[in-house]
Amino acid sequence: METGLDLTGQAFERLPDPSSEVFTAPLKRPPHVGEDWLEPAQRVYGADEHAVWDDLFARQMEVLPGRAASAFLAGLDKLDLGRGGVPEFARLSRDLGRLTGWSVVPVPMLIPDHVFFWHLANRRFPAGNFIRTRAAFDYIEEPDVFHDVFGHVPMLADPTYADYMQAYGRAGWKAMRYNRLKALGALYWYTVEFGLIEEAGGLRAYGAGILSGPSEAVFALEARSPNRIYLNVDRVMRTDYVIDDLQPTYFVIESLADLYHQTVERDFDRLYRGLGPGFTYANTAVIDIDNVHSRGTLEYHLRGGRKSGARPV
Ligand SMILES: [Fe+2]
Repeated sequence: METGLDLTGQAFERLPDPSSEVFTAPLKRPPHVGEDWLEPAQRVYGADEHAVWDDLFARQMEVLPGRAASAFLAGLDKLDLGRGGVPEFARLSRDLGRLTGWSVVPVPMLIPDHVFFWHLANRRFPAGNFIRTRAAFDYIEEPDVFHDVFGHVPMLADPTYADYMQAYGRAGWKAMRYNRLKALGALYWYTVEFGLIEEAGGLRAYGAGILSGPSEAVFALEARSPNRIYLNVDRVMRTDYVIDDLQPTYFVIESLADLYHQTVERDFDRLYRGLGPGFTYANTAVIDIDNVHSRGTLEYHLRGGRKSGARPV
């Protein structure tokens, strides 16, 4: 079903041209990639790079059982991502293709929004090709293959989530027409990167930013600082976020079907017409309309967060 979110009447077989009226940050395309920004092949990794993957994998698996969404853990298993070394995209794409029709394609770090949306609309997940060094083991600024493949790809083995991500890619084109990419980016941030889900056993994380990092799963699920608020798409798209520290607020979905329906059934034309170009709500705000799961003390952020060495409690 595609209602509110499918939007432009665009055919997505070919990369559509964004008009010059669209405000985006220009990225310089490396000479070796084409219009689709795809690398000709996945990088060949050295033994120490494969070992970085294995160590990152082992570290996450000490934290994630009981904290990661069951769809994520099932995806890890179905795709056998722990078989050792950086997964080969071709094999991963074959396995994922059988499950949900998605593939994983290598790209050089960041790619332009319209190209990113276009790949998602075609069920291709663009993944960073490089892997972090040991010096950057805990914290990286640009998403690497561990963040992209370990963090994002297992969820794509879930059929409902797979549909959500495709719908999101299509929605990107509408957001560009209205110059509201920032708002749609907030939705991605608070769902795909930092989303929490309510399961029978309690809250779990499904966002890749949480699942691929060393400490955010514990903070997001167990700390007293952050607010946890049930997802409301309108509200989230008006909410600022932080990119270089733990989140002051997480948004909770009741199920993956809840996420899909809330988004796909939304009248985005109406929403975008009512949105200003910037954000309305601070990332720490709890507002009248919120359906609050648990209200945080915000003490970690009030004490200055990461840069002040505050304890993530
Ligand atoms: Fe990501």
